Amino acid sequence: MNLSTRIEGALAAPLLAACRRLGEMASDRGEHLYLVGGAVRDLILDRPFREIDLVLVGDVTRLAREAGEMKLARQVAASPFMTVKLDMAGHEVDLVTARRESYPQPGSLPVVDPADLDADLRRRDFSVNALAASLLPEEFGEITDLHGGLDDLEARTLRALYGETFRDDATRILRGARYAARLGMTLDAETEGWLRRDARYLDAISPDRLRHEMDRIWGEERPEQVLELLWEWGVLPLLHFHLQWDAAMREAFKRARTERSSDVPLITLNVAILASRMGPEQGEELIAAFNLPPAQSDAVRDATRLSRDVIPQLETNISAVEIDDLLAGFSPAAVLAHALTTTEPESEILRRYLEELRHVQPALSGNDLLSLGVPQGPRVGEYLRRLRTTRLEEAVISEERERELVRRWLAQRPDSPA
Ligand code: CTP
Repeated sequence: MNLSTRIEGALAAPLLAACRRLGEMASDRGEHLYLVGGAVRDLILDRPFREIDLVLVGDVTRLAREAGEMKLARQVAASPFMTVKLDMAGHEVDLVTARRESYPQPGSLPVVDPADLDADLRRRDFSVNALAASLLPEEFGEITDLHGGLDDLEARTLRALYGETFRDDATRILRGARYAARLGMTLDAETEGWLRRDARYLDAISPDRLRHEMDRIWGEERPEQVLELLWEWGVLPLLHFHLQWDAAMREAFKRARTERSSDVPLITLNVAILASRMGPEQGEELIAAFNLPPAQSDAVRDATRLSRDVIPQLETNISAVEIDDLLAGFSPAAVLAHALTTTEPESEILRRYLEELRHVQPALSGNDLLSLGVPQGPRVGEYLRRLRTTRLEEAVISEERERELVRRWLAQRPDSPA
């Protein structure tokens, strides 16, 4: 199979020209340059791809420098692993030296040595990600497929390349769930055996790396499918002992996408849904397991406090003022997470708070109260709060009635300080 037509169709003209030129420069000095990984996989599947990864069997530093001198590419960053990040015609491109990797311990960063293309493809996670397309002019678009990636793509089979792969890097389990969900792939039986056997090595992955992988899961179109696969593979409780999965959770994640309001970021809401069946102690463990950032940690804490202190009190005949009292101060993400994971009457009550009660404000402003003769100071705030409570109690109340109330309160306590 040759990918040249697909590459030509998918890359913007200036980027395509720059890639071709880079391929010529490599070829001129007897080096080899390939497009690799996700971009090749997605080109074959005819899907839009996210990043461009290039592998050079040769001297990356020299090629990047010369490409810079010729204004083909601007080097944005260099990393210690013989890797450079380039800006090519406005696109971010990773250019890496073909390498062999070894993992001194499960979960550690790999030790890297320069190697040929075969070794570079062999170190990768799945056969469908271990495809390369040449960028040399004499073989532009020619695919190297050493591990049956093309057949596996056709059959939608997710196959790991070697038995120790998940032990070396257990984040590959989470990556695998993303690919399987996104591309509708099924684990090959042997790979599934390796995965189940070595899932315990997720323990060796740092909280920051796990959070990074979780963020990538939240970035998928249907994260609930990824989580469901992780549940089926027995992995979810290894990430955190109290992570549970069932049809209600699946529905909650689905509805989260359409039912959230603009003041609720989707990732924060998703994390709050994950925490919605936990108590405060388990929530703290969840925060630590993923080293969650402040906004997500707050949402987890609110969600777990709601579980323990508030949800049991939400009964059918609860008043608007009681609802408002109970829920004031909780983040909307945590309240919505519970609205999505509970059933009636709780879900209705939580929605009523989110959609209606929390937005209730008196018609009169602080200035209006001053004009009515309320003395400057704490009484202004107190009357505003009382007006809001009255509005919650009575549902329909005119501005004129608010004025009457304020006049009555003033008459009861004309000059005394609040
Ligand atoms: N890779 C790997 N093992 C990892 C991380 C990356 O083998 N733990 C390889 C895979 O060949 C992958 C490539 O590096 O295709 C690029 O990694 P990344 O950008 O994370 O993956 P993509 O396949 O591009 O994923 P996505 O489509 O989600 O961006």
